[in-house]
Amino acid sequence: MQSNGSQGEVYYPSETIVANANIHDYDALHQEAVADLAGFWDRIAREEFEWFEEWETTLDDSEAPFYKWFVGAKTNIVHNALDRHMNTWRQNKVALIWEGEDGEVRTYTYRQLQREVNRFASVLRALGVVKGDRVTIYMGRIPEIIVAMLACAKLGAVHSVVYGGFSTEALRERIDDSHSKILVTADGAWLRGQTVNLKDIADEALMRCPGIQNVIVVRRTGQDVHMESGRDLWYHEMMNLPIATTDIQTEVMDAEDPLFILYTSGTTGKPKAILHTHGGYMVGTATTLKWVFDLKDTDVWWCAAAPGWITGHSYIVYAPLINGATSMMYEGAPTHPFPDRWWQIVEEHGVTVLYTAPTAIRGLMRFGETWPNRRDLSSLRLLGSVGEPINPEAWKWYYRVIGKEKAPIMDTWWQTETGNFMITPLPVTPLKPGSATKGFPGVVVDVVDEEGEPVPPNEEGYLVIKTPWPAMLRTIYGDPDRYVEAYWSRFPGWYMPGDSAKKDEDGYIWIIGRIDDVIKVSGYRLGTAEIESALVSHPDVTEAAVVGVPDELKGNVIHAFCILQQGKDPSRELEMEVKEHVGHEMGPIAKPAVVEFVDSLPKTRSGKIMRRVLRAQVMGEPVGDLSTLAD
Ligand code: WT7
Repeated sequence: MQSNGSQGEVYYPSETIVANANIHDYDALHQEAVADLAGFWDRIAREEFEWFEEWETTLDDSEAPFYKWFVGAKTNIVHNALDRHMNTWRQNKVALIWEGEDGEVRTYTYRQLQREVNRFASVLRALGVVKGDRVTIYMGRIPEIIVAMLACAKLGAVHSVVYGGFSTEALRERIDDSHSKILVTADGAWLRGQTVNLKDIADEALMRCPGIQNVIVVRRTGQDVHMESGRDLWYHEMMNLPIATTDIQTEVMDAEDPLFILYTSGTTGKPKAILHTHGGYMVGTATTLKWVFDLKDTDVWWCAAAPGWITGHSYIVYAPLINGATSMMYEGAPTHPFPDRWWQIVEEHGVTVLYTAPTAIRGLMRFGETWPNRRDLSSLRLLGSVGEPINPEAWKWYYRVIGKEKAPIMDTWWQTETGNFMITPLPVTPLKPGSATKGFPGVVVDVVDEEGEPVPPNEEGYLVIKTPWPAMLRTIYGDPDRYVEAYWSRFPGWYMPGDSAKKDEDGYIWIIGRIDDVIKVSGYRLGTAEIESALVSHPDVTEAAVVGVPDELKGNVIHAFCILQQGKDPSRELEMEVKEHVGHEMGPIAKPAVVEFVDSLPKTRSGKIMRRVLRAQVMGEPVGDLSTLAD
């Protein structure tokens, strides 16, 4: 149902959606949660999860912003994601349906997945991995990435997954910073019918990572790879040894013990290692998934993200398993071999909920309606969007062509740091295309000015979150000062995500974009600092600055400005070479769309590059206030 009010179009949920809803009255629930935040989460944590020992305090804010949740409780997220299902009928339920790009299909029941995880945990244990150790995981979208993550968590080791699309330098920096002693990777990954040489990339990174003692390699593509004797081990060989026993205990963890770190880009400097924990993250991710997507035992849930980003951590790996859901996972490109590959997967596996990014929708939109119309998409009952604002055209196409006007779109705003959905509709929420609507129950969101005062309706301001939540990041691993500085210093007492937004007369939030030096390319979060350091590592480049420029398909693309070494001349070849170099160092997603050679860069008197000026120049807009410019 649809109506045109003063706010533009509003889409109301159908009777079927309302009848199926896990949550019927958002306002009442939100008010209840805000009135007694600790009591609200205390009740959910008791009802929905298993704990080895209960907590003394639900929320400890005595050392804020170092909040603690479920203080004193003992659990392990893997106990809730796998072990506890063994005592129910769910042990024989399908946990994961995986489809390779080459068409291979594998399914794992909860029981089978648990046994695989136990065996891999035993292998890691035999290699000396103990509670608190860091393990880096670098591979494509294959079941073994889930197995590896869960095996770490089972032992109490901290996983650090590096997205399989990143390359040598990005991988090296993340291994190094985390002090990992084990790397789990694969020979390669399939993408668009080609192989990505993951092991080669890892080998190059490892030349400068002396801390890594062992590399475990999953065979996926079967390509030739170098195996360093004494260091490198095949996954399948290890899993066939007697040490790979299923008889292994799930480590008893404190609710506040680290579960994983995940690197993300921030305002300045090197990537930040965002730290999440066993207790709060478990409660937050599982509850948000259950409520926002009305998850039921009859669902086939498909989060089409990569496991290597927070979306995959929370909503491919942990939340679906904790809820006992059946998940779909697909290895490759949406358009391989044809543009209806995704729609074929929906049809063949009966996917009921699809969760993806606007950039993917726009990419598939380009191929027209004929491709999705060839497939039976009637199983879809809900859709989701994440990663960047969804433009109304893409929203409407997704709603009409994919959801057949019966599947509401849950536009979920959140971040690596938040761990779970923060601003999001529930299925019963009236929708406005392009708005992520309102705070999840208990999440108080506002849009404020420089002084922290709420801005009038429809005016731009800083997005802030005024209440703590269980799945919030606990710190930046190894850098607690930066945690305070980056998120809690601008408006003391409130969390500042780094986005600008507007709030309309109905209290709906409209995200505008990042206000810091983060560029979202196809929904991937990249930091200007990391790309710039990749640029200047090219021998001919002495200085570089990058800015994000709006792009119809990718949301933003990277425009790089480079100053060349004395005596080097700009050329088309050099431009190509510099782009390739960034691809090699950082990964294909970080490749600039344009490399422009310049003689100087606009800087403030204190030497800070004024990206705002560069951006205005590229966009042909007025450059604004130049009073701080050095010359
Ligand atoms: C940034 C966080 C968490 C999932 C993937 C991204 C942007 C995320 C939305 C949305 C508008 C969005 C924000 C945010 N963003 N979801 N629904 N509407 N913008 O996680 O890589 O940590 O990026 O993504 O700018 O700050 P991430």
